[in-house]
This record gives sequence, C-alpha cells and structure tokens, in this order.
Amino acid sequence: MSVAPEKFDTAMTAWQEWQDAPWGRLRYAVAEANLARRLGDDGGPLRILDLAGGDGGDAIRLAGRGHHVTVVDYAPAMLAAASERASAAGLTELITCVQTDATALPAEIADGAFDVVLCHNLLQYVDDVPGVLAAALAPLRHGGLFSVMAINRHSAALNVAVRDMDPAAALGALDAAQARTRMFDSALRLHTAEEIVPVLRGLGCRDVEHCGIRSFCDYITDDSRKYDPAFYADLERLELAATARPPYMHTARLFQLTA
Ligand SMILES: C[S@@+](CC[C@H](N)C(=O)[O-])C[C@H]1O[C@@H](n2cnc3c(N)ncnc32)[C@H](O)[C@@H]1O
Repeated sequence: MSVAPEKFDTAMTAWQEWQDAPWGRLRYAVAEANLARRLGDDGGPLRILDLAGGDGGDAIRLAGRGHHVTVVDYAPAMLAAASERASAAGLTELITCVQTDATALPAEIADGAFDVVLCHNLLQYVDDVPGVLAAALAPLRHGGLFSVMAINRHSAALNVAVRDMDPAAALGALDAAQARTRMFDSALRLHTAEEIVPVLRGLGCRDVEHCGIRSFCDYITDDSRKYDPAFYADLERLELAATARPPYMHTARLFQLTA
C-alpha cells in the first residue's frame, strides 16, 4: 500500500482545519508534553528529525523551544506550508525542510546522528512496518530519543460504537486491520502499541514508554463543547494526566511510543 503525495497535498485545507480543531490541538499538545518529559534535562538545543512531518505541526512547537528541526516529507505543498509556518513564527533558522521519501532517506539524513527522531503518523500509510522503523531509527544517534505515533487499532471499534452508535459495525471493526481516511481518500493500516513495542525492542530500542493521545476526547460525543475554552482547558489537563496511565492509553485514539 502506498499513497501518492498528491493525496496529502490536495487535502491541505481540511488538514489545517483538523489541526486547529480541539482534537487536533490536543494531539500536538500531548505529544509535545510527552517529548518534553522524556527529554527532561537533556533540554537542548537538540537536532531533531521529523519524518513525514507534513506541514510542521510538531516541528513548529519544537523549534519554538529552541531546537533545530529537519522536516522530511514527500508532499511538496505540505513542506511549503511548513516553511510558511516557520517564517510566520520567525523560526526559519531553526526549521529545514527536505522533500524526499521518508522510507528511502538520502545518506546525509540517514547518517545524520540526530538527537531525536519523530515518526508520527507514517506507519498507517506503509506496508513494511519493521523496515520503515529500521530506516527511521538509522539517523538516530546512540542514546537518542525515538518517538513513533500511529492510530490505535483498539480505538476503532470503540469509536464506531460510541460515536456512530452502531454496535454491528463496531463488531466488524473489532478485528479490522484497515480503515479509510476520508480526509486523504486512502486506506489506513491500523496497529497497536502491543504489536509495535516488540518490533522496536528487536531493533535495539530500550526503555520504551507507551502513551495514549486522546484517551477521553473522542469518546465525548458532543464535539461543540470542546470549542469552549474552559471545557478545552479541563479536557487538556485530563488528557495530559492520563496519557501514560493504564488503562486509558490502551483505548486512546493514538498511541505514542518513546524509546
Ligand atoms: C497525516 S500527515 C502527518 C503529518 C505529521 N507527522 C503530523 O502528525 O502532524 C501524514 C504525512 O505523511 C507524509 N508521508 C506519507 N508517506 C510518506 C513517505 N513515504 N515519505 C514521506 N512522507 C510521507 C504525507 O505527505 C503527510 O504529510
């Protein structure tokens, strides 16, 4: 399964609206907090590689903390949007954009010995997960931090049952390894943290931490409430408190593994 870069570029408006929505903001806020916690005093400035980094949702936050971020993506409009964001935020010196396939990195990036490598929301678009993770780990320096994020398959049936109130469809979703994204008009492969953790360990990763992103948000069906600033602030505090707390991460919409 491979998705043409144009599928991502043509969905730019919908993608940016999603990022600005409360559930989009939560995704970036919780991921940023998890990275900051894991980096601890190793605070920087660090050299970070953001694979399939899109329009720089993670990069802009990390550059805002003073880190140097290289965003790799194969979709030109996504990268152009990342550059525009960097320029609007006065962060052009800290963000470098490279247009290339994240699964076939050029030597100057693969040999880059980065302090941190992000592989966020790429796995759902590739077939060879161990191969892609191995390629993603190659640019990481020894002892660096790796962060991988993907849609959590365990959330699929729950989402259908709770949001669509369709138990028959939820039953069908229980064992479905694929879903569809309307936004990018493509198939999505669904994974679980339980499947990815042993792959990471097999590739030499140590000290793997499993976090959930949006453990509660997607199961609150009244989306309009989430636009209320006070409600959003409470929800973000709840999500941050629950991100690494069992059992909530197991059914969160996304998993983030840091190692
Ligand atoms: C859903 S967006 C996620 C962007 C970003 N990582 C985030 O989470 O905000 C998926 C991105 O992956 C990029 N992408 C998918 N497959 C890719 C590949 N093989 N090489 C480079 N970029 C890829 C797409 O162009 C798109 O920008």
